[in-house]
Amino acid sequence: MTDTGTEPRFESVGAVRDGLRDVQYLADEGIAGIVYLADRLQKPILVEGPAGTGKTQLAKSVAELTGARLIRLQCYEGLDESKALFEWNYKKQLLRIQAERGESGGPSWDEVETDIFSDDFLLTRPLLEAIRAEDPVVLLIDEVDRVEVETEALLLEILSDYQVSIPELGTVVAKQIPLVFLTSNNTRELSEALKRRCLYLHVDYPDMDREKEIVLTKVPGVSDALADQVARIVRSLRQLELKKSPSVSESLDWARTLLLLGVETVDAETASSTANILLKYQSDIAKALKEFSTDQNAAKVFAPGPK
Ligand SMILES: Nc1ncnc2c1ncn2[C@@H]1O[C@H](COP(=O)(O)OP(=O)(O)O)[C@@H](O)[C@H]1O
Ligand SMILES: [Mg+2]
Repeated sequence: MTDTGTEPRFESVGAVRDGLRDVQYLADEGIAGIVYLADRLQKPILVEGPAGTGKTQLAKSVAELTGARLIRLQCYEGLDESKALFEWNYKKQLLRIQAERGESGGPSWDEVETDIFSDDFLLTRPLLEAIRAEDPVVLLIDEVDRVEVETEALLLEILSDYQVSIPELGTVVAKQIPLVFLTSNNTRELSEALKRRCLYLHVDYPDMDREKEIVLTKVPGVSDALADQVARIVRSLRQLELKKSPSVSESLDWARTLLLLGVETVDAETASSTANILLKYQSDIAKALKEFSTDQNAAKVFAPGPK
């Protein structure tokens, strides 16, 4: 890789954590540490973990914090080169060829061919856009586990060399090293080749204190006691055998719901009547209601905050 002279973005791990807090993202030491390292080592970060734990938001928040433009490639089954990297604007190419046909004494086919495989006829997709950017960018390759394993190969050149090879044009090398985030919900194993190029960050559900802080930060008007209860009850639900555990997204939705309903303290009845905000399967809701209704658990979960 050529030295592009990209300046480090962060002074220290603490600076990452504080900066993220300023844009309302609450990172633990592990998250802040990897972001700091990725910047210094100029390596992409592969963020893996359950849905709704702040993986996508991390990339967005880092972009906001550094004042960089966020370029996002949303992955899906069937994503191909023409949507991820670039494609030739064949309609425009065709028009160009037709325009030449009419005239005698016009340019030779060789000239036309060189012309139609030039920049003017190139449609830039997110990966190429990030490589060609002149301004600071954060590249987010979101939910990479959704593409077929063969499609991952499209990413390898960018991830290791920050460049894209276009057969007709040559190699486009990044003018500056973007911060790159890949996220995965872990629905399948990613290839060794991809993992090798990245720093790995596992993001799990936050601990109770951090989840409470996230609720306090993201839900204006929520009281400390209510945020505490939300964090505690959600955590107790995550200990059940559920099809889909409630994530941070659901904690936030639930806190907003409780606030709207004017709830100050959550009791078993309120929790039961709003369980559909936290859980999305009927069987999970049934398990939660059972849990809420046992005396022993009621005391544990609905007791007023510790001390
Ligand atoms: N550490 C955190 N700090 C602030 N908000 C968070 C944090 N983790 C999750 N969230 C919030 O939770 C929601 C889900 O996050 P998201 O990044 O979409 O999840 P994922 O991409 O992991 O599925 C978003 O509203 C996000 O702002
Ligand atoms: Mg996401």
